[in-house]
Amino acid sequence: MDKRISLSRPHLGYKETEFIKEALASNWVAPVGPSVDSFEEDLKAYNKVAHAAVLSSGTAAIHLAMRLLNVKPGDYVLCQSFTFCASANPILYMGAHPVFIDSEKETWNMSPAHLRLAIEDLLAKGIRPKACIPVHLYGIPAKIAEIVNICNEFDIPVVEDAAESLGSTLNGQRTGTFGKLGVYSFNGNKIITTSGGGALVSDDADIIQKARFLATQAKDPAPHYQHSELGYNYRLSNISASIGRGQMLIIEERIAQRRANFERYKAYFDHWQNYGYCIELPTEPEGTFCNRWLTTILVDPEKNKGLTYHDIRLALERDNIESRPLWKPMHLQPLFQKAPFYGDGTSEALFNSGLCLPSSTNMSEEEWGRIFKVLDQLVHRSPKANVSKHATKHVKLGGECRNCMF
Ligand SMILES: Cc1ncc(COP(=O)(O)O)c(C=O)c1O
Repeated sequence: MDKRISLSRPHLGYKETEFIKEALASNWVAPVGPSVDSFEEDLKAYNKVAHAAVLSSGTAAIHLAMRLLNVKPGDYVLCQSFTFCASANPILYMGAHPVFIDSEKETWNMSPAHLRLAIEDLLAKGIRPKACIPVHLYGIPAKIAEIVNICNEFDIPVVEDAAESLGSTLNGQRTGTFGKLGVYSFNGNKIITTSGGGALVSDDADIIQKARFLATQAKDPAPHYQHSELGYNYRLSNISASIGRGQMLIIEERIAQRRANFERYKAYFDHWQNYGYCIELPTEPEGTFCNRWLTTILVDPEKNKGLTYHDIRLALERDNIESRPLWKPMHLQPLFQKAPFYGDGTSEALFNSGLCLPSSTNMSEEEWGRIFKVLDQLVHRSPKANVSKHATKHVKLGGECRNCMF
């Protein structure tokens, strides 16, 4: 069996080893030190945000955000349904209730219309939501300006889950910087990694100072250990931050590579139209720049001779190539089955037809060849096809895939 091609693997740059060696040589191996400070400065400068605290994970950042916004047991928190569980789990950590909001078709992210409906309905029932968590999935910016405006109207703070969208922008502004708080993840599968890690950013100095306090066990100022509040051990180690500093030096390169992956798949699947197939890739919504963290496809069997995303996934898996269905919406998860949901089925339809394809930035030509060979064999169900030879040429075929409206 050939070596596994994973969905998204780490890709180190040129300076990480040097920064780690510096940290070891200077004995800064705890969750404090010069690399922690530098990585925070790098994130602030890159995202043009006033304050940043680097943490042990993106999940920890969302949990801290819930604490900082004073979410209490029994409160209600609005959350995008189409996401990874880590966007929503911290609501449960607080003993609060998630209220799930469906996606809209253009960005696949939180629908402003359903958000408004949910807020108005909850208020009519005497419930004031404590916070709202929209997500920028797969690096596609949500309609975040609209979402923030709606939330401002009702005085609901926004925690932007930008775990997957570092580097993406809406009208030139980085995702993660629109809401009261923004969250990034540096998990091993993300566009840059610190092995595991995350960050909380905000323009509010007090809130990030409080985040640091809570993330280091909430130690009161006293010579002994004294605690008036519940804290956590959520800071990022100086070793991990050293990796982060190195990764920040090549982030633009990584984004360009992810975008090139997307274009390569797009050219490949465009060519499938010649064989009567119609595989859809997400567009880049107007005003946005997408980091294209993962390339995703939608496969409607009615427009693809009965081919489903399952067929593609299983064929890839047989050759030890990882692909994964789109996120299963939270309102459909057994864990959240009792949670209220406002929507029209958009995220469920996406889940029922979509697949994430291998999107690492360090895939070799041989690995690309293996992927296209498997995909070719699927098309080969119609006799004349061998489409992969066109894929590397980035062929853009004129013919529109007209039926390919989601
Ligand atoms: C949308 C989303 N939110 C939150 C997280 C949590 O980040 P972490 O894995 O760093 O805890 C992830 C990724 O893992 C994610 O994809």
